[in-house]
Amino acid sequence: MDKTQLIAAINKLKKEKNAVILAHYYQMDDIQDIADYKGDSLALSQWAAKTDADIIVLCGVHFMGETAKILSPNKKVLVPDMNAGCSLANSCPADKFEAFTKAHPDHTVISYINTTAAVKALTDVVVTSTNAKKIVDSFPKDAKIIFGPDRNLGNYINSITGRSMLLWDGACHVHEQFSVEKLVKLKEEHPDSLLIAHPECKKTVLIMADFIGSTQALLNYTTTSNKQSFLVATESGILHEMQKQNPNKEFIPVPPNDSTCACNECNFMRLNTMEKLYQCLLTETPEILIDEEIRVKAVKPILRMLEMS
Ligand code: 13P
Ligand code: SF4
Repeated sequence: MDKTQLIAAINKLKKEKNAVILAHYYQMDDIQDIADYKGDSLALSQWAAKTDADIIVLCGVHFMGETAKILSPNKKVLVPDMNAGCSLANSCPADKFEAFTKAHPDHTVISYINTTAAVKALTDVVVTSTNAKKIVDSFPKDAKIIFGPDRNLGNYINSITGRSMLLWDGACHVHEQFSVEKLVKLKEEHPDSLLIAHPECKKTVLIMADFIGSTQALLNYTTTSNKQSFLVATESGILHEMQKQNPNKEFIPVPPNDSTCACNECNFMRLNTMEKLYQCLLTETPEILIDEEIRVKAVKPILRMLEMS
């Protein structure tokens, strides 16, 4: 099938099966364009909680599909490629995280949404990069808190809230890869550009940034700013929507360390393709399934987050 036929076939199946397509901003452009809703991790969970579709196709990574299934257990949740994992979620195995929480039993456990269902089941409240500051701020200043699994986001939230949360030592390989050397050079070449960065980036990048925020916050910032040019230090999929909303502004992706590529893509996110999206709607596989005991425990901290957002 060519691209036009694929688009028509996906739309037909979606209608016949009362399916909804939710896509993260880090998906390839064609998938973002065919999605019913596209957004950051928080928006995806909000839509998954309230949709009346029978099937949710989550175009993102595995933990996003799991979150949708946890919130909508009676719906069929599909992901185009089951191998679309996440290095950050993988950096926090549930058994080791459980041992960490047990070693600090007087601590509240706050987990980033980029975790497995089993880690969420050990958590008091889930956060995303959009609401992490607000949720941490809602706890008393002297509250004892464990924050996992992203050390960069955790350090950043500690710095802007004046906390000293205990951090799990995990990270996202995509956001940790930005090259400071290439960034310094880019800044010299584009002195009028603003550097905007996701808080999953290393501190060495964040201290150079003019604005730090979640994927949605970065998008909003570029739209409301009166500046014309931006150096973007996050996964380059978001440039598609930034350019769409701001056709006259310039967006320059910050390159990673160890490649000749000009932009930084998440290899997991990019496993999803239009062909796999079509096959997944056609065959209704691969489907996300979650152990009910874990789901019942994992839904509580996610609902708490949605109430606090
Ligand atoms: P947000 O969608 O919260 O910005 O998170 C970025 C990310 O890395 C998703 O995997
Ligand atoms: Fe995970 Fe990083 Fe990819 Fe997001 S960009 S899915 S945090 S590996």
